[in-house]
Amino acid sequence: MRIILLGAPGAGKGTQAQFLMGKFGIPQISTGDMLRAAIKAGTELGLAAKKVMDEGKLVSDEIIIGLVKERVAQADCQKGFLLDGFPRTIPQADAMKEAGIQVDHCIEFDVDDEIIVERMAGRRVHPGSGRVYHVTYNPPKVEGKDDVTGDDLVIRPDDEEATVRKRLGIYHEQTKPLVDYYIAEADAGNCQYHKVDGSQPVSEVSEKLGKLLG
Ligand code: AP5
Ligand code: ZN
Repeated sequence: MRIILLGAPGAGKGTQAQFLMGKFGIPQISTGDMLRAAIKAGTELGLAAKKVMDEGKLVSDEIIIGLVKERVAQADCQKGFLLDGFPRTIPQADAMKEAGIQVDHCIEFDVDDEIIVERMAGRRVHPGSGRVYHVTYNPPKVEGKDDVTGDDLVIRPDDEEATVRKRLGIYHEQTKPLVDYYIAEADAGNCQYHKVDGSQPVSEVSEKLGKLLG
């Protein structure tokens, strides 16, 4: 099963990817996590991406498309994958189509901007795995520690309120048009489109997704 998770920063894509990976046994392809790993490794890509990400802007389509094409060609993606944070612009969606990368489902997470700003203030992440928590809505078993490894959790540098608002602006401008893009794809019979209310509690959103995807 090949799935696109589409939604604003903080809409819950990474959180639900964790649930769907377990349920369907398919890998999560998070372009954000891939870029953060490159930053941590100090690669050329990481150095170039860090400034752009810290400012809440988008990394160039060319770089991102190259990363995703390479990743979906790997053996563990042959039975399916979860695209988290990609595509994020019309050129990225077009490039994916041109490369023959098809999807079965596109899921839109609908959440109001003000809820998102509040969520991001409480987000904590495990940098090694990309696992994501919230101090109130999805707390780790031990405060400040990852459930699986026990490592320290951190605050993402782009979760400062001013940066979150900037990312939301870019989402509405450059990514939201993909809603109509994938509705048209669904109308043409190329995939199924689902819109879910992402403002519900984590477990309710997971339950809804489980039902939708069978
Ligand atoms: P990326 O890492 O993809 O960030 P994003 O899309 O902005 O999304 P987030 O990871 O912030 O949110 P999410 O939807 O995963 O929410 P989460 O589950 O964590 O990208 C980062 C940067 O990389 C971009 O700004 C850009 O620079 C670059 N980049 C990445 N991909 C790119 C691309 N394709 N093109 C160009 N540039 C790219 O949840 C958020 C919080 O809310 C957590 O604390 C969570 O516990 C909590 N929460 C989740 N669901 C619920 C719920 N239902 N109720 C209550 N709390 C909840
Ligand atoms: Zn995420």
